[in-house]
Parts: sequence; C-alpha cells; structure tokens
Amino acid sequence: MKLRTVKDRSVKDSTGISFTALYTGAVWHRHGLSDDILATDQGKWLYHLMTPFEAASKAVVGGNLRTFLLQRHLIIDHLIEQTIDRGVTQILEIACGMSPRGIRLREKYPKIHMAEADLPNMATRKASRLLISGHLGARHQVMPIDILATAGDHSLETVMARTFDNNEPVIVITEGLTSYFSLPVISEFWKRLAGLMQERPGSVYLSESYLMPTQPLLRGGLKALGGILGTVTRSDVSFHFEDDRQAAEHFAGCGFSSLTVHNPVDFYGRLSIPESRNDPMVRVVEAGV
Ligand SMILES: C[S@@+](CC[C@H](N)C(=O)[O-])C[C@H]1O[C@@H](n2cnc3c(N)ncnc32)[C@H](O)[C@@H]1O
Repeated sequence: MKLRTVKDRSVKDSTGISFTALYTGAVWHRHGLSDDILATDQGKWLYHLMTPFEAASKAVVGGNLRTFLLQRHLIIDHLIEQTIDRGVTQILEIACGMSPRGIRLREKYPKIHMAEADLPNMATRKASRLLISGHLGARHQVMPIDILATAGDHSLETVMARTFDNNEPVIVITEGLTSYFSLPVISEFWKRLAGLMQERPGSVYLSESYLMPTQPLLRGGLKALGGILGTVTRSDVSFHFEDDRQAAEHFAGCGFSSLTVHNPVDFYGRLSIPESRNDPMVRVVEAGV
C-alpha cells in the first residue's frame, strides 16, 4: 500500500470534518428548524460544550458562530424557495450532514426531487434515520458523494448523472463545507460543478463564504481559531476572500457566469434571522451559469 504524507491526507481524505455536522445539526434542532429524528447525543454534548465560547463571542464581537450559522442556513433556504418558485424541482444538497432542509423542503414542496449526499459514513447515518422516520422514497434520497473524487461512483459527475433528469436544471447546495478546504482545492470542485451546470442550463449553486475581517485583532483571533479547527478536523480551514468583489471575481474565473454575493444585512427585517452587531462575516453565494 502506498504511504501518504499528512499533507496528502488533508487533500484526499476529509472524513475528519464529519463530526462538525453533529454540532450544526444540534444548532438547527435547538432553533426549531429540525426534526427529533436528526438530533444526536454527540450534537447535544457539543452544543453544551460550545455554549460558553459562543456567549463570550457574542458579548465581545456582537456575533458568534451560531449567529452566522442561522443567517446562512435561512438565507440559503430562502434562495432555494425562490428558485423552486421559478420552476426548478431537482435539488442536490452536498455535505448534508444532519441538515433538516430535505425534510422541510419536501413537506412544503412534495413534487421536488431531493437528493442529500455526504461522505459514505455520514450518508449511511443520515439515511438510516430518514428511513426509520419514513421520509425516504423515490423523490427523497440519501447517497454517498466525495467532492474530492474526480471519477467513480462517489464523484459529483456520477452522482448528478445517475440521480437526476439531465435535461433539467438542478439546485446544488454546499453548506458548511467549502471553508474546510484551501482555495486551490475547492476551486477544482467549483470548476467541475460549473461545467456540469453549463450542461444543465438554469441550474443554481448556493453556498456560503466567510470573509476575513479587516480589524487586526479580530483577524489574528480568527486565524488562530481557524488553525485550531483545522487541527481538530484534519483539514485546511481557510478564509478564501477578503471582500465581496474578490469572491465574485474568483467564481467568475471558475466558470460561473452570474454571481450574487448576499450579505445577511440585506435580509434583516425580511427573514427571521439573527442580526450581527457589525458587518456579518458570512456571505451567501448564489452562482449561475
Ligand atoms: C459542518 S458539516 C455541515 C453539515 C450540514 N451541511 C449543515 O450545515 O448542518 C460538514 C459536512 O461536510 C461533509 N464532508 C466532508 N468532506 C466531504 C467531502 N469530501 N465530500 C462531501 N462531503 C464532505 C461532512 O461529512 C459533514 O457532514
């Protein structure tokens, strides 16, 4: 067997990230967005463990991880619903973890075809829960995917071709995934995705991105926190962009022809999302081809 270096492993094997889905899953559950079937004991434990840090962050900087999570999740939901209302009915939620989005969307729009996908272990875990609760069927599936695989059963190309009507557009979502990879690595995925979306005109990609704050103290603190999270998850936690313009230019370079970078501030008062004291760090990216 070929020995791999730690650096190589961080690119080819991203299973270390998976446990973070238990924390986000607990956040969705605590805020009334999820179903009991998706609540996990580990998630509850992580939620309690994180509470003092989240409270301190809220007091000091006027926002915390939970604020950004809820902002991104609910804005992505809103943009999905807008796209469904325009007639797109095929949805692929990559890195679904314990996201309750599939359950909620299928309840509201029974005609959509919802495919949830994650690394094999997480996909099996999610599928077994949704099977017990009776949610799975021909129009609500859970399947393995690995965004780093460029060929084979778990590649994006195979999953898309096998799952959907390839003459129709698809809404593709990655939430809570891209920041665990360096910009060069995740850009390869974005380029492949843009190519597949070009073959399915009208498709939309939704994701979030965290901007690096300009304030030096906050910048330093976040870099340190990112380093810790990177070590714990064995990944390259990265802030990819300095500002909205840089994000837009980068996505254009990956092959997306239309791009909107949504600031949560624009949804205050319109959506039921928490408000940050300062400019939120999170943005939601809506990309088309
Ligand atoms: C922070 S969680 C986000 C889960 C969910 N989207 C949410 O917001 O609650 C990150 C997810 O990415 C998944 N993941 C990690 N590496 C992946 C890869 N190479 N391909 C697909 N999913 C991956 C993990 O298994 C985990 O479920």
